[in-house]
Amino acid sequence: MKLNEEIQRRRTFGVIAHPDAGKTTLTEKLLLFGGAIQEAGAVKSNKIKKGATSDFMEIERQRGISVATSVLSFNYKSVKINILDTPGHKDFAEDTYRTLTAVDSVIVVVDVAKGVEEQTEKLVEVCRMRNIPMIVFINKLDREGRDAFDLLDEIEQKLNLRVTPLSFPIGMGYDFKGIYNLWEHNINLFKEDSRKNISDTIEITDLHTPELTALIGDEAAETLRDEIELVNGVYPKFNQEDYIAGRLQPVFFGSALYNFGVRELLDCFIKIAPPPLPKQSDLRLVKPEEDQFTGFVFKIHANMDPKHRDRLAFVKIVSGKFERNTPYLHVRKGKQLKFSSPNAFFADKKAIVDVSYPGDIVGLHDTGNFKIGDTLTEGEALNYKGIPNFSPEHFRYINNDDPMKSKQLNKGIKQLMDEGVAQLFTLDLNNRKVIGTVGALQYEVIQYRLEHEYGAKCSYEPLHVYKACWIDPKDKKSDAFKDFLRVKQKYLAKDKQGQLVFLADSAFSLQMTIQKYPSIQFHMTSEW
Ligand code: G4P
Repeated sequence: MKLNEEIQRRRTFGVIAHPDAGKTTLTEKLLLFGGAIQEAGAVKSNKIKKGATSDFMEIERQRGISVATSVLSFNYKSVKINILDTPGHKDFAEDTYRTLTAVDSVIVVVDVAKGVEEQTEKLVEVCRMRNIPMIVFINKLDREGRDAFDLLDEIEQKLNLRVTPLSFPIGMGYDFKGIYNLWEHNINLFKEDSRKNISDTIEITDLHTPELTALIGDEAAETLRDEIELVNGVYPKFNQEDYIAGRLQPVFFGSALYNFGVRELLDCFIKIAPPPLPKQSDLRLVKPEEDQFTGFVFKIHANMDPKHRDRLAFVKIVSGKFERNTPYLHVRKGKQLKFSSPNAFFADKKAIVDVSYPGDIVGLHDTGNFKIGDTLTEGEALNYKGIPNFSPEHFRYINNDDPMKSKQLNKGIKQLMDEGVAQLFTLDLNNRKVIGTVGALQYEVIQYRLEHEYGAKCSYEPLHVYKACWIDPKDKKSDAFKDFLRVKQKYLAKDKQGQLVFLADSAFSLQMTIQKYPSIQFHMTSEW
């Protein structure tokens, strides 16, 4: 197959949701359609169970599962589908943000009873900022939930989306009769056994046909006709261009648990979702169909076996063909690297691959060369941008508890930071190290992993910081910048790239500082 055909048949996406909305269940049902797994229950949920914050085995278990489910690939109707896993737990939000730099589209799962929840809002905001095409799947229709129009309103308002339903429920919960598919003009009736069997669809092009009444009864048929008329009158007509540009979001209804409405979602998804798209680098826009290979690292996973310190770097292929045993340029290090056993991921296993195409993810064994955001090319010195660090929410001093092991501690900290577990800041004033994280859970992960993988012991001390801001002085020689450096010395630090960071201790002091130094720019992310 030619490169372009391989590109056109690929769909790389992520499923995002607030925990418990049904992401794992939906992913599993998608895999069942692709024949990638044989039975339900094969995909393990990677969520962290409640009360697990001090259970280290739980953390290890979670890490194990997240290696196994990082990428799930399968073929469906000659389309190659790559699903990238996104942790729903808020302490791992940064992992999810980074994974979103490697997807070409997303499916957002919303619980019909709970509606839009906090994590959904945050993740959708990131997708909106990047204009990532989104399809919304409203899940758990087999349960009593909220009115469909109310939910669509809430999605528009809270998520700031412009929605258009492509399917619509007939009843809900106890009365749930099925789904009318506006995209395919057919009806899918809900049966109790649909958990196992994928029920047949009945084509209904005209909602006034007596067949509809015969199928779902007079009352439900009447309600459906009214509702579909309202849908057609109120919501914009679906148009693929707007969807791909992130201006319009189609909505599907269903029940992942009962495997209901999932085939409709998948069939529509493979038709409308974009194949790999061009990506901006610091030099130019790179198109997938270019001959030369380029790609970037969006995730690094440490080996689960502490005796083998190698890691797996996940590379999204942006352009050209990635081939085994071929030297590629590691742009940041200016070094040629060759990979003898690149991994591809399937639902139940990983395997060595000879060739991968744009949209695919390859896992490269790494002994410490890679950092998140690194670019690989066939020689061109370009870098993909767009994996910024966000300001952490929590900050603590890290102390070495075993002076004989300071080398191990430093190496461990460096490698864990390269993996993106947390962010390291070094204070200008006294060189003390500060670890910033999105969630409190990471501190335990770091402590545990430093001890078990590097043989180093650490402890933490509280530090009161509100936000970390990256500083861009514009003019480094200006009096204002010199004054800022002198007055705020106590609050200044360097991140691991050596960029200057201001650790503001309160929202008020940050506001006052921004006002006092209008010539200095304060950024909430490390890339601007
Ligand atoms: P997550 O990955 O988004 O966190 O959610 P997950 O799929 O694990 O689903 C969370 C819970 O919601 C699970 O129940 C799951 O069975 C249930 N669920 C998912 N989809 C549907 C649906 O369409 N209808 C109904 N009624 N339930 C659904 P659990 O009791 O927490 O776990 P389990 O014991 O069933 O695994």
